[in-house]
Amino acid sequence: MYATSKIHYDVTQKEMKQPTLIQIWKTQNELEQSVAGKIYEVIRRKLKEKTQCCIVLSGGGTPRNVYRRMGLDETNTLIDWNRVQVFFSDERAVPPDDPQSNYGMVQREWISHIPVPRSHVHRIQGELNPKSAARKYEQEIRKIFEHDPVVFDLVLLGVGEDGHTASLFPGTDAVLEKEALVTSTFVQQFKNWRVTLTVPVLNAAHEIIFLAAGTKKAAIIQRILEKDTPDIKLPASLIQPPQGTLCWMIDEEAGLELKEHSSIIIQRL
Ligand code: 6PG
Repeated sequence: MYATSKIHYDVTQKEMKQPTLIQIWKTQNELEQSVAGKIYEVIRRKLKEKTQCCIVLSGGGTPRNVYRRMGLDETNTLIDWNRVQVFFSDERAVPPDDPQSNYGMVQREWISHIPVPRSHVHRIQGELNPKSAARKYEQEIRKIFEHDPVVFDLVLLGVGEDGHTASLFPGTDAVLEKEALVTSTFVQQFKNWRVTLTVPVLNAAHEIIFLAAGTKKAAIIQRILEKDTPDIKLPASLIQPPQGTLCWMIDEEAGLELKEHSSIIIQRL
């Protein structure tokens, strides 16, 4: 049972595992260009349907390349940025000007190139005590959604070679959090604290895109996608939006170990 603000749904295992769409591009270059275009397409589509569009962006090298392309894409002038709210999936416990900051990276690569109101960019305050930063971020999210359920329109996630996504790392309590929207977590392998959105709020999203490229991700992608049921040892496998869509957008290298499976649909582009 996942409870996210007013969303309460008891999703049976069967419902949880809809076929997952895997889109595979020949090169990382084509993949990144397609993901950048997809994000703008979702934003434009959502703004035709509703008053505002709320997106969640992840950190990491692969997402960074996408943000760089988005920043250079002239079609971004076609978007009414006054109706877009930008959130982050997670943040390292560092100040915004630290090279490790996800916000700092997205700001440099994309946000500084678009006229989105600064008050619409919801930074996780990594410079604060992680627990306080988590609490403040949750309050800010709830304030934007007011009395509506916290349902993000689009979530862009990366995946680590250990199966983590956002800052939901295997073996951490953050992976098990079922009530809070945001939590703080100490990541042993990086010896640092992080603040992250939790599984329930990610799974409440309308559209989730996993982005991965390169041979290093091939093994973990196969391990995640061959799973019939979510596995807390592979946090990315817990991301199964019962009412939303899930699409993995990867390049051929990242798809090298992928095997046909009843719960995945592979599209080669
Ligand atoms: C972070 C991200 C993290 C990232 C993955 C993939 O804070 O680092 O949120 O979840 O998306 O680790 O990163 P790469 O694309 O660089 O492998």
